Order: sequence, then structure tokens, then C-alpha cells
Amino acid sequence: MARRKIIAGNWKMNMTPSEAVELINTLKPLVENHEVDVVFCVPAIDIIPAVEAVKGTNIMIGAENMYYEEKGAFTGEISPAMLVDAGVKYVIIGHSERREYFAETNETVNKKVLKAFEHNITPIVCCGETLTQREQGVTIDFIRQQIKVAFLNVTAEQAKEAVIAYEPIWAIGTGKVATTEQAQEVCKAIRDCIGEIYDDATAAAIRIQYGGSVSASSAPELFAQADIDGGLVGGASLKADFGQIVNYNK
Ligand code: 13P
Repeated sequence: MARRKIIAGNWKMNMTPSEAVELINTLKPLVENHEVDVVFCVPAIDIIPAVEAVKGTNIMIGAENMYYEEKGAFTGEISPAMLVDAGVKYVIIGHSERREYFAETNETVNKKVLKAFEHNITPIVCCGETLTQREQGVTIDFIRQQIKVAFLNVTAEQAKEAVIAYEPIWAIGTGKVATTEQAQEVCKAIRDCIGEIYDDATAAAIRIQYGGSVSASSAPELFAQADIDGGLVGGASLKADFGQIVNYNK
């Protein structure tokens, strides 16, 4: 069975709650495409007004992060139950910016992935190499390690529902998009790795996105690759361009 494409925006630390509602109202008519899953991953404080603003549309709301404990003395953190209660369906886990600036590791990513599944939130698990790693020829080894740890103790049934986002760090916010060959090569390697951890059926079911300077012009060719099931879009998700990206097949 063909995998359904998933195109998600990662708003990062942009948009106040009122700006979020305004942006959603602008994008709503532009992102209608019932052949793909459309997700807006928004800052925590925007989640409640965003869920309200997308009612009756094809858009689902995601979070950009969550903590791996249920509740308690973790000042400033957001729990999975809070996200579920607010209407969140997806959560980005282990974005490279969180790994770089907020000390997230493969181990904390794994804890968060397990916790998200416990609460029926679909994790968008991020991986990706630095420019140095690419130049040293260790990209695939590095990403296989990220994936193997992220999926420790995740069952095959859960993994089938997961989303992985391959985001080469050198392509994020740089305008330097990976070539379709580079993106496809790594996404295939990720699928092969999932096949080794689990089985062919799991590898065939899991959805793998490409992220890193995705634009209206680069999306159609990227999303046409055999192992690329959509995109995780930063900068372009805050503009009307996101409508064109979502409708890459029209
Ligand atoms: P850009 O699309 O702005 O390069 O960001 C990609 C990204 O980090 C999405 O998570």
C-alpha cells in the first residue's frame, strides 16, 4: 500500500498566539489537499488557539517538543497529557536545534519517543548530520546510530506509525537544499535501518520526511523520490509558499 505523504510546518520560535491565528486563517484555503496529511507544529503557547483555528479543516496541530515525564517538578516543561488534552496529534522530537542548544541526546530522544507513543501522539523523530560529518563520509553511520537509539524498545506496531524527519544540519535555514540524490540516499538508508531493526513491513510503512530549506520549487522533485514521504518545512511554512508545497502534486 502506498504511503500517505505527510507535510509538516515547523514554526520554530515564531508567531505570537494572535499572529498564529492570523497566519492559520491566511493559510487555511491554501493548504487544502486531502491526498496528504498536513500538520502545523507550533510553539506551545500557540497550540490552544491553533487547534481552535483549524477546526473543520484538513490541518492537524503538532507540538515542537515535550517532556518525557508524566507530571511534577519540571519547571517550564510541557507534558504529553497536556498536549493530548489540548488536541495535539504530532510532536517533533529531537530537532537538531534542540540537540544543539538544549542538550538533547539520542537517549532523551528515545525517552520522549516512547512517552509520545504511550499517549498516542505520533512522534516526528529528527535526525541529520553536520557538514563536517558529511565531508568525512560518516553520514550514514551517524544517522543509523541516531535511529537505532531513538527506536530502542519501540515496538514494530508503534514504529509503523512513526514519522522520521531527515534534516541535514547544513541545509537547515541556509537556503542550501540537499540534492534529491543526497536526500533519497539517506532516506533509503533510514528505511533499510528500520528494516534491519524490525522487518520489511515496518520499513514499508514508516514515513520518512526530508527537511532543510524545502521550498515551493524544490518540493515536487524531493517528494517524488521513492523513499521520501513528504517534508518538514521551516521558513517556508510561515508563508503562502507552504500552500504550494502542500499542493506539490497539483
Ligand atoms: P528550513 O526549512 O527553514 O531550512 O528549516 C528546516 C527545519 O529545521 C524544519 O524542522
